Amino acid sequence: MKKPAAKRPTSSSPGKVREFPIALLGQKFMGKAHSNAWSQVARFFDLPLEPVMHTVAARDAAELTAFARRWGWRNACADWRQIAQLDEVRLVDIGTPNHLHKEQALCMLQAGKHVACEKPLAATLDEARVMHEAALAARRKGQQTFVWFNYRRVPAIGLAWRLLREGKLGRVRHVRAHYLQEWGGPQTPMSWRFEKKLAGSGAHGDLNAHIVDLARFLVGEEIECVHGAVARTFIQSRAAPAGTKSARKRCDVDDSLLFCASFEGGATASFEASRLAIGHQNDNSIEINAEHGSLRFGFEDMNLLWLADGDGRGKTDGFRRIMCTTAGQHPWVEAWWPSAHLLGYEHGFVNMAADMLRQLAGKKPEIPLPDFEDAYQTQRVLEAALQSARKGASVRLDQVR
Ligand SMILES: NC(=O)c1ccc[n+]([C@@H]2O[C@H](COP(=O)([O-])OP(=O)(O)OC[C@H]3O[C@@H](n4cnc5c(N)ncnc54)[C@H](O)[C@@H]3O)[C@@H](O)[C@H]2O)c1
Repeated sequence: MKKPAAKRPTSSSPGKVREFPIALLGQKFMGKAHSNAWSQVARFFDLPLEPVMHTVAARDAAELTAFARRWGWRNACADWRQIAQLDEVRLVDIGTPNHLHKEQALCMLQAGKHVACEKPLAATLDEARVMHEAALAARRKGQQTFVWFNYRRVPAIGLAWRLLREGKLGRVRHVRAHYLQEWGGPQTPMSWRFEKKLAGSGAHGDLNAHIVDLARFLVGEEIECVHGAVARTFIQSRAAPAGTKSARKRCDVDDSLLFCASFEGGATASFEASRLAIGHQNDNSIEINAEHGSLRFGFEDMNLLWLADGDGRGKTDGFRRIMCTTAGQHPWVEAWWPSAHLLGYEHGFVNMAADMLRQLAGKKPEIPLPDFEDAYQTQRVLEAALQSARKGASVRLDQVR
């Protein structure tokens, strides 16, 4: 590993911004999204901690130095375990494939670091449980954990959460959520995402993880039962990556998984994930029908929240379009551009980095952050749906631990 650059003096006096060294594991899709978040966050938000991009680790040694230089990481190393030895690193951010989350998180928690992990928390429920238990033990020593359910930090979702907490919409009756993409056709070559031992599941863990988290978060209750699920693998094999012996590799994860569920308070819910829904590019959508109104969000129009509050306008009653870009009214917006200048995908990650740094300094995030405990509850729902699809039967969550 390259020698760290000289550290800037760190102040711990109140009111002063303290430096907060971070390390990142992984340097591809999420590596880029997280690097962007850590490099932007202190430019836009006034924060009690200033992230220092200390070290990035990933296995593609050839690309790593250029990646570190481009994104402003001070050091790069091809062996992620070395990060545990870096005393000055306070938070380790995990953006690697799902099967690595448990080993990496446990190692870093053991080394006394705070940990932010990508979703799903793990490839399997067994792994997620161990991570959850390790996080509980670490919490007693003052360490925090986070899971990158970044869609919680889209201003429209933040507003939906606040409206539901205010209570005017009343009890939730139905949740209808789908997360549909189209990139997983037969032309897409093999990758870790199509291998059960690396990913855990397919569209399910990748996409349903996000909408189960959103549904639990917005409703504010736990799911009690999965009433039925259906999973399909339509593409059985894919072109193997260059350098592999055989020309094709078998895919053993779902391309699509749909399930119905109910919440503790009685609300019904449906979830639908697919990588084969042609025409839907990144369609992460959720609708909530409550006693006195409905809310609707779709990520492909992420600055909008639709509200129908049944306010009796007669022939003009219906869903109203709210552009969630007003500083002071909508969460995180005032840190960005003048009102009505739209936000995009990357802003959710920067907003999340800001909230993590606030919470790490003992301050309140804009809205609650998901930790390993929270993500473990989502993983239980994902596991219940997998069991339900296998058995062709309902699965109660109290049977899934
Ligand atoms: N929050 C979101 O919206 C979102 C979006 C995409 C992916 N993800 C999650 O992020 C994680 C990473 O996904 P991605 O799309 O960035 O994957 P990717 O394939 O683009 O990148 C994976 C990275 O992990 C590194 N890596 C792989 N094996 C390694 C090993 N043994 N040791 C060290 N590094 C290793 C690779 O070098 C690469 O840099 C997954 O858990 C995925 O589910 C989340």
